[in-house]
Amino acid sequence: MSRPLGRLTGIFKGIADGTKPLNQDIPVQSKDEIGELIVSFNQMARHLYEAHEAMRKQTETLKTIFEGISDPLALIRPDCTVELTNNAYREWMAKGIRAVFKEKCNPESCDPDTICPVCFIKRLKDEKRPISEYWEDEEGRHYYIHLYPVFDDRGEVIKAVHYVKDITERRQVEEQMRIAEKLVAIGQLSAGLAHEINNPLGGIRLCFNNLISTEMNGEARQKHIEVINTGLQKIQDIIRQLLDFSKQTELVMKPESVNNMIDNVLRLTEYILTKKGIRVIKDLGDNIPEIMADRNKMEQVFLNIILNAIQAMDGSQGTLSIKTLIENGRCCISITDTGPGIPQDILPRIFDPFFTTKPVGEGTGLGLSVSKSIVEQHKGEIKVITSEKGTTFTVELPVRQ
Ligand SMILES: Nc1ncnc2c1ncn2[C@@H]1O[C@H](COP(=O)(O)OP(=O)(O)OP(=O)(O)O)[C@@H](O)[C@H]1O
Ligand SMILES: [Mg+2]
Repeated sequence: MSRPLGRLTGIFKGIADGTKPLNQDIPVQSKDEIGELIVSFNQMARHLYEAHEAMRKQTETLKTIFEGISDPLALIRPDCTVELTNNAYREWMAKGIRAVFKEKCNPESCDPDTICPVCFIKRLKDEKRPISEYWEDEEGRHYYIHLYPVFDDRGEVIKAVHYVKDITERRQVEEQMRIAEKLVAIGQLSAGLAHEINNPLGGIRLCFNNLISTEMNGEARQKHIEVINTGLQKIQDIIRQLLDFSKQTELVMKPESVNNMIDNVLRLTEYILTKKGIRVIKDLGDNIPEIMADRNKMEQVFLNIILNAIQAMDGSQGTLSIKTLIENGRCCISITDTGPGIPQDILPRIFDPFFTTKPVGEGTGLGLSVSKSIVEQHKGEIKVITSEKGTTFTVELPVRQ
């Protein structure tokens, strides 16, 4: 009796310390209680083995997924030490990229110039909700940094999933889209610009011919020279405006008057508006405070919306109404046309890049997507209301604090 039991205990110990496999049946040598015990044990061991295998496979799949994610991903403990990392995260750690946690971050040495992991974890513990931060490093790379809380049964944050997305390329594409859109807008304005340059040029030529071919007294001469000078000045202004507009610039935020920006854009579009017989109704508020804005970029937004309005009213001699006012502490600029409106089925897509209903060569479909991104960079919103009687685009911008 004691010998088979002793042998059995030996096998159990071997399984427990991992020296004997779970999936090997113990031979049944007798038909007594010990034999039955071995049969039940074999059954239990088989179940255990299967469960163990399923768990191992599941862990392996999860690990493959975790490692296969090409963006850095890690599990962080509340004391700012790193518990688990994927390959991309480890590579970033090795390169010393500051968007990721170091293996252990020192709560004493909080660096205010970078996304401080310590403060980040502190905020996560307090706020108990996912945190996302945009961050640009000293080499000019752009990141989106996410921290997702992992809770225990009592709702306390016990860990954090750290996910980092390098959005540098996306930012570059967006910037290129902005430039492309500017060039398209310039193309659309070219008829008006040619006209604006041609007008003073006509005067210059006439005065120049008079000067060289006619005898004239000092006063007449002076007048002619003045006309030439003013004309050249005007051309220079137009070209400077164009160059300003097409320059690839970072946001330059300054206190600016929205009404001035509208007037500038209307000056640029005056020629097309008159040519198409479009009436303009301006209702610009008197007491609009200056807002912090990049004048060039915001003017591009108004220009895109006005060009769309003009195109929507093509051939219908409509009315373009522009209104500026302060509402709920925000500066609102509404641009309304009397065009046919935007069909409901395409409305959700008008802000998508490259979405256009215009024939090839007439629209690139970038105008509104670029405008939206500029307005969002200004922490504002762009809204649209449309019916078959016309469309209103409203840009809402925060008033300067
Ligand atoms: N005021 C409007 N009235 C009617 N439809 C409009 C109006 N504004 C925009 N849309 C619709 O939204 C689409 C997208 O506009 P968006 O300005 O982004 O591109 P686009 O004008 O087609 O081309 P782009 O501005 O790049 O030359 C337009 O093609 C048009 O169908
Ligand atoms: Mg457009």
